[in-house]
Amino acid sequence: MSQRTLVLLKPDTVRRGLVGEVLGRFEAKGLSIVAMDLRTIDGDLADQHYAEHVERDFYPPLRTFVTSGPLVALVLEGDEAVEVVRALNGATDGRKAAPGTIRGDLSLSNRENLVHGSDSPESAEREIKIWFPDLP
Ligand code: RTP
Ligand code: MG
Repeated sequence: MSQRTLVLLKPDTVRRGLVGEVLGRFEAKGLSIVAMDLRTIDGDLADQHYAEHVERDFYPPLRTFVTSGPLVALVLEGDEAVEVVRALNGATDGRKAAPGTIRGDLSLSNRENLVHGSDSPESAEREIKIWFPDLP
């Protein structure tokens, strides 16, 4: 069943020059790019996107990080895209993520872990509305 998911190539991906490498993995897997935008976000957008995390101890440094420079926001589409992207991304902590995954191969951090992927179809719908309100 074709599905959409919201993906972020976080500021560390842009800063490290890994946009092509990471985007290439999603494309090679067969996912389609439905929307794509390079932008620097403010704290308000970060709070909306990470609504479930705003009260957590790790949120203030996460907020500083995601607003620290340009990121690439994407809507990707394909069969079971939500789960497929999460599998390609790997575990949250890059130090523990399995080799072969984006985080496992390219990140050594629990915060600067390169990518975000919606964690459910409901989250995808909510997040796509936040990032791309005009997307049909
Ligand atoms: P994401 O939402 O970015 O796809 O990552 P995720 O589902 O694998 O992880 P989640 O639990 O939703 O956490 C969101 C982001 O917060 C940062 N984080 N830092 N203990 C920490 O320092 C910590 N835990 C999480 C990461 O950037 C994580 O991706
Ligand atoms: Mg998450």
